Amino acid sequence: MTVVQVQASRSYEVLIGEGLLKEAGERIRAVTRAGTAVIVAGDIVWPLYGQRLSRSLEAAGFRVLSYVIPHGERSKNLETYGALLAFLAEHRVNRGDVLVALGGGVTGDLTGFAASTYQRGMDFVQVPTTLLAAVDSSVGGKTAVDLPTGKNQVGTFYQPSLVLCDLETLGTLPEEEYRCGCAEVIKYGVLGSAKLFNELELLPVREQLEHVIAECVRMKRDIVAADEFDRGRRQLLNLGHSVGHAVEACSGYTVLHGQAVAIGLAVVTRAAYERGLCFRNTLEAVLGILKKYGLPTEPGYSRAALEEAMLADKKLSGGQLRLIIPREIGHCEILPVPVEDIGVWLAAGGLQA
Ligand code: NAD
Ligand code: GLY
Repeated sequence: MTVVQVQASRSYEVLIGEGLLKEAGERIRAVTRAGTAVIVAGDIVWPLYGQRLSRSLEAAGFRVLSYVIPHGERSKNLETYGALLAFLAEHRVNRGDVLVALGGGVTGDLTGFAASTYQRGMDFVQVPTTLLAAVDSSVGGKTAVDLPTGKNQVGTFYQPSLVLCDLETLGTLPEEEYRCGCAEVIKYGVLGSAKLFNELELLPVREQLEHVIAECVRMKRDIVAADEFDRGRRQLLNLGHSVGHAVEACSGYTVLHGQAVAIGLAVVTRAAYERGLCFRNTLEAVLGILKKYGLPTEPGYSRAALEEAMLADKKLSGGQLRLIIPREIGHCEILPVPVEDIGVWLAAGGLQA
């Protein structure tokens, strides 16, 4: 098992290893005095892992409640959030209790947001069951739900008390979801670690799962420690996301987040190369590894459609978009781009009008 210590407004451990679900009760008991633990899970994950987690929590003396939501992004909204809060209130859950998010980023973001606001804040634990959640969303304390106008438009910064990543749960992940997680892992390599990038080229992620997750979590830990509230360096984690979010929006959220990130990474690296900000070998390495992991690199939408979606992005401020530019593998820079230049960047990224 690997332990990564995160130091932010709250300090906590991220545990990565096999069989952690069975130990979850005692490990969660060690970080909270809660009487009741409420497991929040999606309707695919609950039948797979809900009972195992429940039994472990009961054995550690918790009263266990469960709240199961429909799987997928459609549950990350104010309606589900309101229904979850109502459930907590009806079952007399109080701020001394603990929420346990069992699932991917949707469950983690929603549960974290509920935990940060219910009775002005209660403990929560992340139990990520997707690769994407393991390497990204379960660590760092960004919580959110979507509005009809866009993703993650309501949320908080609120750190979990513990993250338990049981590698066994990733075994049931559909291939497409595994690849989405690989897109985020590749993102880490491009933005901050040529060593990790090389390792990903040499060996598939699934053959070095614990090492890769631990490396990504350590990188995120360092970024969050330096900039928990996303005012500067943390924006590096948005590599591929400005174009990616626009692709997701254009597709009506049928393109998965990781697929969209892969496309965004390809477009921004093409643009960086065309504008003389990185060498051809960097572009070839990025496109090559995305292909190797079966990830898409073409948006399939017009420049105008993507530009419009990017203009609606919440990351725009003061008439500027902060674009993350790969300069070489393992090193990226934040470049403020005036909104009127977004079209030029997309054209450089290979987008047709
Ligand atoms: P997800 O939570 O929708 O999970 C993907 C699918 O996999 C779902 O259908 C789920 O039921 C299924 N699943 C989950 N674990 C499984 C398992 N072990 N076996 C079988 N099926 C399983 O998607 P995701 O990719 O994990 O997360 C995407 C969400 O995370 C988006 O809403 C995104 O905005 C958010 N996100 C948040 C952060 C953050 O910092 N908070 C970072 C990145 C992404
Ligand atoms: N996933 C982006 C962040 O945590 O900042």
